[in-house]
Amino acid sequence: MRDYSHISVNPITGVLGAEIGGVDLTKPFEDAVLAEVKQAFADHSVIVFRDQPMSIEDQKRFTQAFGEFGFEPYVETMPDHPEVIEVIKEATEHGKNFGGSWHSDWSFQETPPMATILHGKEIPPSGGDTCFANMYVAYETLSPGMQAMLDGLNVVHSARRPYGVDNKLFGTEKRAMKIINTEEAHAELVHPAVRTVAETGRKALFVNPVYSIRFENMTEAESRPLLDFLHAHATKIDFTCRVRWQAGTLTMWDNRCVQHNAMNDYHGHRRVLHRTTVKGERPWLDGRGPVSNTESMMAEAAAG
Ligand code: SIN
Repeated sequence: MRDYSHISVNPITGVLGAEIGGVDLTKPFEDAVLAEVKQAFADHSVIVFRDQPMSIEDQKRFTQAFGEFGFEPYVETMPDHPEVIEVIKEATEHGKNFGGSWHSDWSFQETPPMATILHGKEIPPSGGDTCFANMYVAYETLSPGMQAMLDGLNVVHSARRPYGVDNKLFGTEKRAMKIINTEEAHAELVHPAVRTVAETGRKALFVNPVYSIRFENMTEAESRPLLDFLHAHATKIDFTCRVRWQAGTLTMWDNRCVQHNAMNDYHGHRRVLHRTTVKGERPWLDGRGPVSNTESMMAEAAAG
């Protein structure tokens, strides 16, 4: 276990997540504290702070301590706060919840968010936990043969399943969150199937069941058996941790090496959290170099 001087770090499970103590997030970080929080984030990929009665401005300041804000598409953001999504499900709503399938946030973007930050505002008396799965361990527990094959593959991502014109995330029910279904969501973008996280040098599987559509240069039908295998493998219970929310809990996770899934088991209760993201890099830039023909061409063009 690593020694920390300014914060306490208590792992949640043997593979993922840690509860961080000794920090007041209603105040700006001191440099030494931020350095330790960043180290804990690199070590545990999901970090949880309890009893933080933060305002939206506090959450924005916390987010910016880690980088620029990410861009939030397809979901109406809070009035006056284009960087903040209110993740809300009313007690009267039935059916699917926002974030209620295994995924890595906005992986269809050219620069998917490095991190997501969620702050609990109103939490059901029980239920509504968020589950997380470790994509380093998912990759590391594959056979060398499968790892080598995936190292050479690229994956097409798209937002079309939840946000396309034919696939309404919430069906026709009136919901507190406004989802924007549009043609734009049908766009496709290629990322490597395996990415290397700069701070740790570890490889992580970068596929998820919501946004990963197929392998590059393969059909969906051809890709389906391997993607199905990888999704089941990556979310094995042994690779996960689960965060139980309270009002004032702040959780930050690393989308480069973690998938998450919001539980939908609190019908009849209201659940409200505020969500911000930290902009990330293009996955193929994180230590591997360009990996697809299109991206190689783009990199060559950019290099002149
Ligand atoms: C999300 O996917 O960002 C929502 C997670 C949650 O509500 O727990």
